[in-house]
Amino acid sequence: MSQIPSTAQAWRLHKLGLLADVIQEDTVPIPSPADGEVLIKLSHASLNPVDYKLVGLMGRFLKLPRTVGADFSGEIVSVAQGCHASWVKQGVRVYGIWAADKVLSSGKGSLSTYFTIPSKYLAPIPPLLDYESAAGIALVGLTALSLNQTFQKGWKVFIVGGSTSVGLAAADIAKAKGASLIVASASGEKKNVLKQRDKEVDVAGELSLRYKDQPFDVIFDCVGDRFIHEKCPSFLKATGEYRSIGASSLSPESRIWSAEFRSLGLWFLKATILPSFLGGIPRKFRLLGPKDDDLPKLDEFVQSGQLRPVVDKTYPWNEAREAIKYLATGRALGKVNIAAPVAPAA
Ligand SMILES: NC(=O)c1ccc[n+]([C@@H]2O[C@H](COP(=O)([O-])OP(=O)(O)OC[C@H]3O[C@@H](n4cnc5c(N)ncnc54)[C@H](OP(=O)(O)O)[C@@H]3O)[C@@H](O)[C@H]2O)c1
Repeated sequence: MSQIPSTAQAWRLHKLGLLADVIQEDTVPIPSPADGEVLIKLSHASLNPVDYKLVGLMGRFLKLPRTVGADFSGEIVSVAQGCHASWVKQGVRVYGIWAADKVLSSGKGSLSTYFTIPSKYLAPIPPLLDYESAAGIALVGLTALSLNQTFQKGWKVFIVGGSTSVGLAAADIAKAKGASLIVASASGEKKNVLKQRDKEVDVAGELSLRYKDQPFDVIFDCVGDRFIHEKCPSFLKATGEYRSIGASSLSPESRIWSAEFRSLGLWFLKATILPSFLGGIPRKFRLLGPKDDDLPKLDEFVQSGQLRPVVDKTYPWNEAREAIKYLATGRALGKVNIAAPVAPAA
Protein backbone atom coordinates (compact mmCIF):
# COMPACT_ATOMS: atom_id res chain seq x y z
CA MET A 1 0.00 0.00 0.00
CA SER A 2 1.23 3.47 -0.86
CA GLN A 3 2.19 6.03 1.78
CA ILE A 4 -0.69 8.06 3.23
CA PRO A 5 -0.12 11.74 2.38
CA SER A 6 -0.70 14.52 4.92
CA THR A 7 -3.28 16.37 2.80
CA ALA A 8 -6.26 15.46 0.61
CA GLN A 9 -8.01 17.18 -2.29
CA ALA A 10 -11.73 17.93 -1.67
CA TRP A 11 -14.52 19.56 -3.69
CA ARG A 12 -16.10 21.89 -1.14
CA LEU A 13 -18.85 24.44 -0.82
CA HIS A 14 -17.89 27.75 0.83
CA LYS A 15 -20.89 29.88 -0.11
CA LEU A 16 -24.45 29.30 -1.28
CA GLY A 17 -25.44 29.33 -4.93
CA LEU A 18 -25.72 26.85 -7.77
CA LEU A 19 -23.69 23.85 -6.62
CA ALA A 20 -21.84 23.39 -9.92
CA ASP A 21 -20.83 27.09 -9.93
CA VAL A 22 -19.79 27.55 -6.31
CA ILE A 23 -17.79 24.41 -5.46
CA GLN A 24 -14.05 24.76 -5.31
CA GLU A 25 -11.18 22.32 -5.00
CA ASP A 26 -9.37 22.69 -1.67
CA THR A 27 -6.34 21.09 -0.11
CA VAL A 28 -7.36 19.87 3.36
CA PRO A 29 -5.50 18.07 6.17
CA ILE A 30 -6.13 14.33 6.56
CA PRO A 31 -7.21 13.60 10.17
CA SER A 32 -6.44 10.38 12.02
CA PRO A 33 -9.49 8.15 12.47
CA ALA A 34 -11.12 8.44 15.92
CA ASP A 35 -12.51 5.44 17.85
CA GLY A 36 -14.92 3.45 15.67
CA GLU A 37 -13.65 5.17 12.50
CA VAL A 38 -11.51 4.27 9.50
CA LEU A 39 -9.53 6.33 6.99
CA ILE A 40 -10.74 5.83 3.41
CA LYS A 41 -8.79 6.38 0.22
CA LEU A 42 -11.46 7.37 -2.27
CA SER A 43 -11.91 5.50 -5.54
CA HIS A 44 -15.20 7.00 -6.78
CA ALA A 45 -17.74 9.44 -5.33
CA SER A 46 -21.29 9.11 -6.67
CA LEU A 47 -23.72 12.02 -6.99
CA ASN A 48 -27.41 12.18 -6.03
CA PRO A 49 -30.06 14.85 -6.79
CA VAL A 50 -30.12 15.63 -3.04
CA ASP A 51 -26.55 16.97 -3.34
CA TYR A 52 -27.75 20.00 -5.33
CA LYS A 53 -31.29 20.17 -3.86
CA LEU A 54 -29.86 20.39 -0.34
CA VAL A 55 -27.93 23.56 -1.13
CA GLY A 56 -31.02 25.32 -2.51
CA LEU A 57 -33.47 24.13 0.13
CA MET A 58 -31.36 23.82 3.30
CA GLY A 59 -28.69 26.40 2.43
CA ARG A 60 -28.83 28.49 5.58
CA PHE A 61 -28.77 25.38 7.84
CA LEU A 62 -25.67 23.88 6.22
CA LYS A 63 -22.34 24.03 7.98
CA LEU A 64 -19.85 25.74 5.64
CA PRO A 65 -17.40 24.96 4.27
CA ARG A 66 -18.69 21.48 3.53
CA THR A 67 -17.49 18.69 1.30
CA VAL A 68 -19.97 17.71 -1.42
CA GLY A 69 -21.47 14.22 -1.81
CA ALA A 70 -22.76 11.30 0.23
CA ASP A 71 -21.99 8.08 -1.68
CA PHE A 72 -18.57 6.60 -2.36
CA SER A 73 -16.34 3.58 -2.86
CA GLY A 74 -12.75 3.27 -1.74
CA GLU A 75 -10.13 1.35 0.19
CA ILE A 76 -9.72 1.25 3.98
CA VAL A 77 -6.18 2.50 4.56
CA SER A 78 -6.18 2.85 8.33
CA VAL A 79 -8.39 1.52 11.16
CA ALA A 80 -8.88 2.90 14.69
CA GLN A 81 -10.01 0.87 17.69
CA GLY A 82 -13.67 0.11 18.33
CA CYS A 83 -14.87 -0.49 14.77
CA HIS A 84 -18.19 -2.28 14.53
CA ALA A 85 -17.24 -5.48 12.65
CA SER A 86 -14.30 -7.90 12.28
CA TRP A 87 -14.19 -7.52 8.48
CA VAL A 88 -13.20 -3.84 8.90
CA LYS A 89 -9.48 -4.11 8.09
CA GLN A 90 -6.79 -2.25 6.20
CA GLY A 91 -6.87 -3.05 2.44
CA VAL A 92 -10.60 -3.95 2.29
CA ARG A 93 -12.56 -2.45 -0.63
CA VAL A 94 -15.73 -0.77 0.63
CA TYR A 95 -18.75 1.24 -0.46
CA GLY A 96 -20.66 3.51 1.88
CA ILE A 97 -22.60 6.64 2.66
CA TRP A 98 -22.26 9.84 4.63
CA ALA A 99 -25.52 9.87 6.59
CA ALA A 100 -27.63 12.97 5.85
CA ASP A 101 -27.83 14.14 9.47
CA LYS A 102 -24.04 13.89 9.83
CA VAL A 103 -23.53 15.82 6.58
CA LEU A 104 -25.75 18.70 7.73
CA SER A 105 -23.96 19.18 11.01
CA SER A 106 -20.39 18.11 10.24
CA GLY A 107 -19.72 19.57 6.80
CA LYS A 108 -18.25 16.21 5.75
CA GLY A 109 -18.89 14.45 2.45
CA SER A 110 -17.56 11.95 -0.06
CA LEU A 111 -15.84 14.16 -2.66
CA SER A 112 -12.51 14.03 -0.87
CA THR A 113 -9.53 11.90 -1.87
CA TYR A 114 -9.07 10.78 1.77
CA PHE A 115 -11.54 11.07 4.67
CA THR A 116 -12.34 9.48 8.03
CA ILE A 117 -15.78 7.96 8.63
CA PRO A 118 -17.45 5.71 11.25
CA SER A 119 -17.08 2.10 10.05
CA LYS A 120 -20.84 1.46 10.52
CA TYR A 121 -21.49 3.52 7.36
CA LEU A 122 -19.47 1.03 5.26
CA ALA A 123 -20.02 -2.38 3.65
CA PRO A 124 -17.47 -4.58 1.86
CA ILE A 125 -17.58 -4.63 -1.96
CA PRO A 126 -18.27 -8.17 -3.23
CA PRO A 127 -15.36 -9.67 -5.25
CA LEU A 128 -17.20 -9.50 -8.59
CA LEU A 129 -18.11 -5.81 -8.32
CA ASP A 130 -15.69 -3.02 -9.24
CA TYR A 131 -15.26 0.29 -7.42
CA GLU A 132 -17.08 2.22 -10.14
CA SER A 133 -20.26 0.10 -9.89
CA ALA A 134 -20.22 0.01 -6.09
CA ALA A 135 -19.84 3.77 -5.52
CA GLY A 136 -23.50 4.69 -6.02
CA ILE A 137 -25.17 1.77 -4.26
CA ALA A 138 -25.82 3.13 -0.79
CA LEU A 139 -28.23 6.08 -0.98
CA VAL A 140 -30.46 4.77 -3.77
CA GLY A 141 -30.23 1.23 -2.38
CA LEU A 142 -31.27 2.30 1.14
CA THR A 143 -34.12 4.36 -0.31
CA ALA A 144 -35.22 1.41 -2.46
CA LEU A 145 -35.06 -0.83 0.61
CA SER A 146 -37.34 1.51 2.57
CA LEU A 147 -39.82 1.48 -0.34
CA ASN A 148 -39.80 -2.31 -0.11
CA GLN A 149 -40.39 -2.53 3.66
CA THR A 150 -43.12 -5.05 4.64
CA PHE A 151 -43.09 -6.30 1.03
CA GLN A 152 -44.83 -9.68 0.80
CA LYS A 153 -44.08 -12.47 -1.65
CA GLY A 154 -46.54 -12.39 -4.55
CA TRP A 155 -47.23 -8.65 -4.36
CA LYS A 156 -47.82 -6.71 -7.55
CA VAL A 157 -45.93 -3.40 -7.72
CA PHE A 158 -46.13 -0.39 -10.01
CA ILE A 159 -43.02 1.84 -10.11
CA VAL A 160 -43.50 5.42 -11.23
CA GLY A 161 -40.17 6.31 -12.85
CA GLY A 162 -38.69 2.86 -13.43
CA SER A 163 -35.52 4.31 -15.02
CA THR A 164 -34.57 6.43 -12.00
CA SER A 165 -31.66 5.01 -10.02
CA VAL A 166 -33.99 4.46 -7.05
CA GLY A 167 -36.59 2.82 -9.33
CA LEU A 168 -34.00 0.44 -10.80
CA ALA A 169 -32.82 -0.63 -7.33
CA ALA A 170 -36.39 -0.85 -5.97
CA ALA A 171 -37.34 -3.22 -8.81
CA ASP A 172 -34.31 -5.45 -8.07
CA ILE A 173 -35.27 -5.68 -4.38
CA ALA A 174 -38.98 -6.28 -5.13
CA LYS A 175 -37.97 -9.07 -7.52
CA ALA A 176 -35.68 -10.60 -4.87
CA LYS A 177 -38.54 -10.44 -2.35
CA GLY A 178 -40.78 -12.43 -4.68
CA ALA A 179 -42.92 -9.83 -6.50
CA SER A 180 -45.37 -11.54 -8.85
CA LEU A 181 -45.56 -8.53 -11.18
CA ILE A 182 -43.42 -5.40 -11.59
CA VAL A 183 -44.73 -2.72 -13.94
CA ALA A 184 -42.92 0.60 -14.43
CA SER A 185 -43.34 3.91 -16.23
CA ALA A 186 -40.45 5.78 -17.83
CA SER A 187 -39.50 8.77 -19.95
CA GLY A 188 -41.39 11.71 -18.47
CA GLU A 189 -39.68 14.20 -20.76
CA LYS A 190 -40.36 12.15 -23.87
CA LYS A 191 -44.01 11.89 -22.84
CA ASN A 192 -44.22 15.69 -22.90
CA VAL A 193 -42.71 15.80 -26.40
CA LEU A 194 -45.38 13.39 -27.61
CA LYS A 195 -48.09 15.49 -25.97
CA GLN A 196 -46.81 18.59 -27.75
CA ARG A 197 -47.26 16.66 -31.01
CA ASP A 198 -50.93 16.07 -30.13
CA LYS A 199 -50.48 12.47 -29.09
CA GLU A 200 -52.12 11.66 -25.77
CA VAL A 201 -50.07 9.46 -23.46
CA ASP A 202 -52.44 8.55 -20.68
CA VAL A 203 -50.50 6.33 -18.28
CA ALA A 204 -53.15 6.51 -15.54
CA GLY A 205 -55.93 5.70 -18.04
CA GLU A 206 -53.95 2.76 -19.39
CA LEU A 207 -53.29 1.48 -15.87
CA SER A 208 -56.99 1.73 -14.96
CA LEU A 209 -57.90 -0.16 -18.09
CA ARG A 210 -55.38 -2.94 -17.63
CA TYR A 211 -55.24 -3.32 -13.84
CA LYS A 212 -58.72 -2.35 -12.60
CA ASP A 213 -59.65 -5.97 -11.96
CA GLN A 214 -56.19 -7.02 -10.75
CA PRO A 215 -55.00 -3.94 -8.86
CA PHE A 216 -51.48 -3.41 -7.49
CA ASP A 217 -50.59 -4.05 -3.84
CA VAL A 218 -48.17 -1.14 -3.72
CA ILE A 219 -46.98 1.80 -5.82
CA PHE A 220 -43.43 3.21 -5.54
CA ASP A 221 -43.33 6.81 -6.78
CA CYS A 222 -39.75 7.76 -7.70
CA VAL A 223 -40.58 10.93 -9.66
CA GLY A 224 -43.43 12.62 -7.75
CA ASP A 225 -46.27 12.17 -10.25
CA ARG A 226 -49.31 13.84 -8.67
CA PHE A 227 -51.58 12.84 -11.53
CA ILE A 228 -50.86 9.12 -11.09
CA HIS A 229 -51.39 9.56 -7.35
CA GLU A 230 -54.75 11.24 -7.87
CA LYS A 231 -55.92 8.43 -10.18
CA CYS A 232 -54.41 5.51 -8.23
CA PRO A 233 -57.63 4.30 -6.52
CA SER A 234 -58.65 2.74 -9.84
CA PHE A 235 -55.53 0.54 -10.04
CA LEU A 236 -54.26 0.27 -6.41
CA LYS A 237 -55.99 -2.08 -3.94
CA ALA A 238 -58.07 -0.40 -1.23
CA THR A 239 -55.63 -1.93 1.28
CA GLY A 240 -52.63 -0.95 -0.87
CA GLU A 241 -50.10 1.81 -0.22
CA TYR A 242 -48.83 4.68 -2.33
CA ARG A 243 -45.17 5.03 -1.29
CA SER A 244 -43.34 8.22 -2.17
CA ILE A 245 -39.69 9.20 -1.62
CA GLY A 246 -40.42 12.89 -1.87
CA ALA A 247 -39.17 12.86 -5.44
CA SER A 248 -39.77 16.01 -7.47
CA SER A 249 -38.49 17.93 -10.42
CA LEU A 250 -37.01 20.60 -8.11
CA SER A 251 -34.00 22.06 -9.88
CA PRO A 252 -30.72 23.39 -8.44
CA GLU A 253 -32.36 26.85 -8.53
CA SER A 254 -35.35 25.79 -6.36
CA ARG A 255 -35.56 27.48 -2.98
CA ILE A 256 -37.58 26.63 0.12
CA TRP A 257 -39.91 29.64 -0.49
CA SER A 258 -40.39 28.92 -4.24
CA ALA A 259 -43.91 28.26 -5.58
CA GLU A 260 -42.66 24.86 -6.78
CA PHE A 261 -41.59 23.82 -3.27
CA ARG A 262 -44.76 25.16 -1.64
CA SER A 263 -46.92 23.22 -4.09
CA LEU A 264 -44.92 20.06 -3.32
CA GLY A 265 -45.54 20.64 0.40
CA LEU A 266 -49.27 21.05 -0.24
CA TRP A 267 -49.34 17.79 -2.18
CA PHE A 268 -47.77 15.90 0.75
CA LEU A 269 -50.20 17.56 3.14
CA LYS A 270 -53.17 16.62 0.98
CA ALA A 271 -51.83 13.09 0.47
CA THR A 272 -51.14 12.40 4.12
CA ILE A 273 -53.88 14.09 6.14
CA LEU A 274 -56.80 15.17 3.98
CA PRO A 275 -59.84 12.80 4.18
CA SER A 276 -61.40 11.82 0.84
CA PHE A 277 -64.56 13.90 1.42
CA LEU A 278 -62.28 16.97 1.50
CA GLY A 279 -60.43 15.98 -1.67
CA GLY A 280 -57.86 13.55 -0.22
CA ILE A 281 -56.97 10.36 -2.09
CA PRO A 282 -58.54 7.29 -0.43
CA ARG A 283 -55.33 5.27 -0.32
CA LYS A 284 -52.62 5.15 2.37
CA PHE A 285 -49.73 7.46 1.45
CA ARG A 286 -46.27 7.06 2.96
CA LEU A 287 -43.28 9.31 2.62
CA LEU A 288 -40.08 7.25 2.90
CA GLY A 289 -36.34 7.78 2.83
CA PRO A 290 -33.06 5.95 3.43
CA LYS A 291 -32.22 4.63 6.91
CA ASP A 292 -28.44 4.41 7.42
CA ASP A 293 -28.80 1.63 9.99
CA ASP A 294 -30.22 -0.59 7.25
CA LEU A 295 -26.88 -0.83 5.40
CA PRO A 296 -26.27 -4.47 6.55
CA LYS A 297 -29.79 -5.42 5.30
CA LEU A 298 -29.14 -3.72 1.95
CA ASP A 299 -25.76 -5.42 1.72
CA GLU A 300 -27.45 -8.84 1.67
CA PHE A 301 -28.96 -7.94 -1.71
CA VAL A 302 -25.60 -6.57 -2.91
CA GLN A 303 -23.54 -9.59 -1.81
CA SER A 304 -26.03 -12.01 -3.41
CA GLY A 305 -25.90 -10.11 -6.73
CA GLN A 306 -29.65 -9.45 -6.60
CA LEU A 307 -29.11 -5.69 -6.53
CA ARG A 308 -27.47 -4.81 -9.85
CA PRO A 309 -26.00 -1.28 -9.82
CA VAL A 310 -26.28 0.80 -12.99
CA VAL A 311 -23.71 3.48 -13.84
CA ASP A 312 -24.51 6.06 -16.49
CA LYS A 313 -21.21 7.93 -16.59
CA THR A 314 -18.00 8.51 -14.65
CA TYR A 315 -16.30 11.90 -14.87
CA PRO A 316 -12.65 12.59 -14.09
CA TRP A 317 -11.92 14.40 -10.81
CA ASN A 318 -11.32 17.80 -12.42
CA GLU A 319 -14.72 17.66 -14.18
CA ALA A 320 -16.82 17.54 -10.98
CA ARG A 321 -18.80 20.62 -12.10
CA GLU A 322 -19.74 18.98 -15.41
CA ALA A 323 -20.84 15.84 -13.53
CA ILE A 324 -23.17 17.87 -11.30
CA LYS A 325 -24.63 19.71 -14.31
CA TYR A 326 -25.24 16.42 -16.11
CA LEU A 327 -27.02 14.88 -13.10
CA ALA A 328 -29.19 17.99 -12.78
CA THR A 329 -30.54 17.48 -16.33
CA GLY A 330 -32.58 14.63 -14.75
CA ARG A 331 -31.90 12.45 -17.80
CA ALA A 332 -29.16 10.12 -16.52
CA LEU A 333 -29.84 6.41 -16.75
CA GLY A 334 -28.06 5.19 -13.63
CA LYS A 335 -25.47 6.75 -11.38
CA VAL A 336 -23.22 9.70 -12.18
CA ASN A 337 -19.77 9.23 -10.63
CA ILE A 338 -16.58 11.21 -10.15
CA ALA A 339 -13.33 9.23 -10.09
CA ALA A 340 -10.54 10.10 -7.65
CA PRO A 341 -7.38 11.40 -9.38
CA VAL A 342 -5.34 8.44 -8.05
CA ALA A 343 -7.10 5.07 -7.75
CA PRO A 344 -6.57 2.90 -4.62
CA ALA A 345 -4.14 0.00 -5.01
CA ALA A 346 -6.54 -2.76 -3.84
N1 LIG B 1 -36.44 10.37 0.03
C1 LIG B 1 -35.15 10.35 -0.22
O1 LIG B 1 -34.35 10.37 0.70
C2 LIG B 1 -34.66 10.25 -1.64
C3 LIG B 1 -33.55 9.43 -1.90
C4 LIG B 1 -33.11 9.30 -3.20
C5 LIG B 1 -33.74 10.04 -4.21
N2 LIG B 1 -34.78 10.86 -3.93
C6 LIG B 1 -35.44 11.63 -5.01
O2 LIG B 1 -35.96 10.68 -5.92
C7 LIG B 1 -35.83 11.15 -7.26
C8 LIG B 1 -35.08 10.14 -8.09
O3 LIG B 1 -33.71 10.09 -7.66
P1 LIG B 1 -32.65 9.25 -8.50
O4 LIG B 1 -31.33 9.41 -7.88
O5 LIG B 1 -33.17 7.88 -8.71
O6 LIG B 1 -32.70 10.08 -9.87
P2 LIG B 1 -31.99 9.85 -11.27
O7 LIG B 1 -31.37 8.49 -11.35
O8 LIG B 1 -31.09 11.02 -11.53
O9 LIG B 1 -33.24 9.95 -12.28
C9 LIG B 1 -33.02 10.14 -13.64
C10 LIG B 1 -34.06 9.33 -14.41
O10 LIG B 1 -35.37 9.84 -14.10
C11 LIG B 1 -36.20 9.64 -15.24
N3 LIG B 1 -37.32 10.58 -15.16
C12 LIG B 1 -37.26 11.91 -14.96
N4 LIG B 1 -38.51 12.43 -14.92
C13 LIG B 1 -39.37 11.40 -15.12
C14 LIG B 1 -40.80 11.30 -15.17
N5 LIG B 1 -41.57 12.37 -15.01
N6 LIG B 1 -41.33 10.06 -15.38
C15 LIG B 1 -40.56 8.98 -15.51
N7 LIG B 1 -39.19 9.02 -15.47
C16 LIG B 1 -38.62 10.22 -15.28
C17 LIG B 1 -35.26 9.94 -16.40
O11 LIG B 1 -35.70 9.22 -17.55
P3 LIG B 1 -36.05 9.99 -18.94
O12 LIG B 1 -34.84 10.80 -19.31
O13 LIG B 1 -36.34 8.90 -19.90
O14 LIG B 1 -37.25 10.84 -18.60
C18 LIG B 1 -33.90 9.40 -15.92
O15 LIG B 1 -33.68 8.09 -16.40
C19 LIG B 1 -35.16 12.53 -7.15
O16 LIG B 1 -36.18 13.52 -7.14
C20 LIG B 1 -34.46 12.47 -5.82
O17 LIG B 1 -34.26 13.76 -5.25
C21 LIG B 1 -35.27 10.97 -2.67
